[in-house]
Amino acid sequence: MNIQDIDINNKTVILRCDYNVPINNGKIIDDSKIVASLETIKYLIEKNCKIIILSHFGRVKTEEDLKSNSLEPIAIHLEKLLNQKVIFFKDCMDTELKNKIAKLPYKSVILLENTRFSDIPAKKESACDNALAEFWASLADIFVLDAFGSCHRKHSSTYAIADYIPSCFGFLVQKELKLLDNVIQDNERPFIILMGGAKVDDKLQLLKNLLKRCDKVIISGGMANSFFKAQNINIGKSLATDDVNILNELREILNLYKDKIELPIDVTVLNNDKIIQKTLEKIEKEDCIYDIGLQSIEKFKKILTNSKKVFMNGTMGKHEDERFQAGTYEILNFLATHQQIKTYIGGGDTTSAVKKFNLEDKLSNISTGGGATLDYISNGSLVAIDHIRSLNNGKNNN
Ligand code: 3PG
Repeated sequence: MNIQDIDINNKTVILRCDYNVPINNGKIIDDSKIVASLETIKYLIEKNCKIIILSHFGRVKTEEDLKSNSLEPIAIHLEKLLNQKVIFFKDCMDTELKNKIAKLPYKSVILLENTRFSDIPAKKESACDNALAEFWASLADIFVLDAFGSCHRKHSSTYAIADYIPSCFGFLVQKELKLLDNVIQDNERPFIILMGGAKVDDKLQLLKNLLKRCDKVIISGGMANSFFKAQNINIGKSLATDDVNILNELREILNLYKDKIELPIDVTVLNNDKIIQKTLEKIEKEDCIYDIGLQSIEKFKKILTNSKKVFMNGTMGKHEDERFQAGTYEILNFLATHQQIKTYIGGGDTTSAVKKFNLEDKLSNISTGGGATLDYISNGSLVAIDHIRSLNNGKNNN
């Protein structure tokens, strides 16, 4: 069920957004996800609703993380974008919340503190705790899921909450599904996926699924380092997985898909303040890989030239540092200037790069999701979306 199909006038609504945006020294670097949530929020204000927003922010694993992962800066930014007061409650589990919210007028916009703060001292949100979901649901009449980027997470605020009150999808989720259905459904080949980002550990299964769905996967960024390491290529001080099982699995994947996986053939390293381009066999123990090299840029462009459809999630290197932005810029600019290739962009980091290089006009198929987009492309489903759909279908059948 979609938000426009439900009688929502004068209701108290609990709205799950994804405000997990990049922040550096307290400054929001890219507010795309916040901007993308405005349509649903404005619609709810127009419908005279009271709006309680939930979101996670970052990974919350220790007491320390409670200091650095507050949603307060997001409340301040949302207030500016909406041009309306956003009331921020510092405790997302405060038992007095219901009374406090009852006193607020309709059209109020309320943001609760990071849902993952409930994971300390023992996991609640991330363990999909039902009591927590029931508590949040008790604050409102209707649940609206609009956190597309978090729809692959089976958490209290994305999944279990829908068990307790009528639930529907917001405008962003609807828009994202439409965009990604284009990626899945149209049969344009060759279909190439560019995968980057720091970690390979939690993306292995996803990578295996994606390899079955596309013609090639170009791997770069920190992920490529782990593939190098799996082949016993010296990567110096560069970031890579230490997990022996994962390294073994990477080796197996490489053997199984040697014609489909494309890795960089040279890199840009930092060595004692010096920036040097190197082929893989020249990497030394003091080197730290931060970007792909010029030969890899050419290699990847050549592969992409023949593609019809491209999905890019993750950057080629540490593009936020100008010294290491060449790989990411060159590949994005190539895709932007080859309009015959249908290009889709996913993930906060890649989206920030598109914006930084002013390529938004030419690369306009941008998803706010990172892991969620990859999950959807690889499986054709997302756990939180499926849950609401099945609950709503169940109701229709009764
Ligand atoms: C994202 O940024 O991809 C989403 O907000 C999900 O974040 P997570 O991987 O920490 O669940």
